[in-house]
Amino acid sequence: MRTITLIPGDGIGPEVTAAARAVVDASGAAVAWEEAPAGLKVGEALGNPLPESVFQSLERNRVALKGPTQTPFGEPYRVWRDVLGPGGTPETRTYPGVTIALRREFELFANVRPVKNYPNAGGRYQGVDIVLFRENTEDLYVGLERMVDPDTAEAVKRITRAGCERIARFAADYMQRTNRKRVTIGHKSNVLKLTDGMFLKVCQETLAASPALEIDSRVIDALCMELVVKPETFDCLLLPNLYGDIVSDLAAGLVGGLGIAPGANIGAGHAMFEAVHGSAPDIAGRDIANPMSMILSAVMMLRYLGESAGAERIEQALAAVLAEGKAVTRDLGGDAGTRAMTAAIVEELKRR
Ligand code: NAD
Ligand code: IPM
Ligand code: MN
Repeated sequence: MRTITLIPGDGIGPEVTAAARAVVDASGAAVAWEEAPAGLKVGEALGNPLPESVFQSLERNRVALKGPTQTPFGEPYRVWRDVLGPGGTPETRTYPGVTIALRREFELFANVRPVKNYPNAGGRYQGVDIVLFRENTEDLYVGLERMVDPDTAEAVKRITRAGCERIARFAADYMQRTNRKRVTIGHKSNVLKLTDGMFLKVCQETLAASPALEIDSRVIDALCMELVVKPETFDCLLLPNLYGDIVSDLAAGLVGGLGIAPGANIGAGHAMFEAVHGSAPDIAGRDIANPMSMILSAVMMLRYLGESAGAERIEQALAAVLAEGKAVTRDLGGDAGTRAMTAAIVEELKRR
């Protein structure tokens, strides 16, 4: 029995993580849950939105299923961790948000976001089957922003050779394991010659150690255009942090939207699975959020844990519910609620 840290999160987070938990439990996978609350409400109650208990839980269990957590837009918001630095000196590390703090503290450097068509899921394209690899710890996400003077703000974009090597190596290994052939590196090295220049060059060099892979590259703006014109021609994408964030949502939109886009944050010893979407405050608490993204994230988690039988059963049950097209949420063209769609998937699982 494997214990998983469950972070319900904010907004629709508690609704969609409850759905994923119910579906995983019904799949017969040998999983137990340890709830570790984090996010806006936790911050209001305790001061810090990411209490030490969450780090301890993930340290113990090594694997988490995380609901979206909300970060206020454009307002000061502090997430911090007090640690003992070199020589036992106390230090405080601060982060722009809960998700970024967890990714950085556990070195979850690889963000894996598969995007493909599901039956009756909408979207304007067919034949899309892309795996997006996003570097998850560097780039403009290092959180070093400052006011130069009252009218001038600036931010640091940091790219390291080691950071590029590890995400490129991860992508190559993943592609070999899953029989993927072509990877397209996205960059803006015509302008950002040092930072994106390094990302492009080091990724190319690292990937070249895997001769079976076809290595391709695109300037990020041109890549976005091609993705919306002929997405079915892409296999894998390898992107720095910020472009990876933006292209994740774009790619979700190609196949029907954020309601069906799962993801994984993987490091050397820990992993955290979460949907691509956020806390969706516009639909929170109304039992209308699509639970699929979070359920598919849990499927990725089960595969990571070696529970592939449970993962397959969930995928089949979900496919049956989608094919029938009745017990699905409104973004999928139905009128079922989150709970009714979840119950339909659980019923399918019981029948298998
Ligand atoms: P969002 O992804 O929450 O929502 C964008 C749009 O997609 C909204 O119209 C929403 O209703 C819809 N949507 C999202 N998930 C859906 C689902 N499961 N079913 C149906 N519709 C869905 O993005 P946002 O509004 O820009 O961000 C809201 C908050 O979420 C922000 O505070 C942001 O920082 C946070 N966020 C957190 C994470 C995370 O914790 N991993 C990820 C993204 C955004
Ligand atoms: C995502 C989200 C996060 C990101 C936010 C919440 C920090 O948009 O997981 O895609 O930008 O990485
Ligand atoms: Mn995002």
